[in-house]
Amino acid sequence: MTAKDAFSLTDDQRRRLIEAAITAREKAYVPYSHFPVGAALLTASGAIYTGCNIEIASFGATVCGERTAAFKAVSEGERDFRAVVVATSNGVAPCGICRQVLYEFGPDMIVIMADTSGQVAWEGPLNDLLPFGFGPKKLAEGQEAPGS
Ligand code: THU
Repeated sequence: MTAKDAFSLTDDQRRRLIEAAITAREKAYVPYSHFPVGAALLTASGAIYTGCNIEIASFGATVCGERTAAFKAVSEGERDFRAVVVATSNGVAPCGICRQVLYEFGPDMIVIMADTSGQVAWEGPLNDLLPFGFGPKKLAEGQEAPGS
């Protein structure tokens, strides 16, 4: 995909996604970090899937808001991600693990980092956040014949 045919959001889609991410953040279960995160993911079908971070007393089992939204989408049959909004109090970037998960289903998707007032801190392609990303295409290209 070239920059020319990269997916772009309409103003209305952007507004709806930002609102959905901010609302999803209210459901965050964050008794340990006190850092609620909301996410809203737009798929090729036009559906929006939301998620929040869910923390577990055994900390390693915690899941981020973006991955909650991504796994909800995939479990409903969606495999083509177009955009995601991450909503936090300070408009920060998605973590590395979430970048990798999003890349699997949308290497060219748009990422929007927003704060809870709806202000956009950054908007751009996931490719810029995960340069030289490894995904299904690279895996297929490098696979050897079974038994080799
Ligand atoms: N967190 C997210 O939900 N998304 C990110 O991209 C960064 C971190 C969550 C995980 C944990 O519940 C809390 O924020 C603090 O790390």
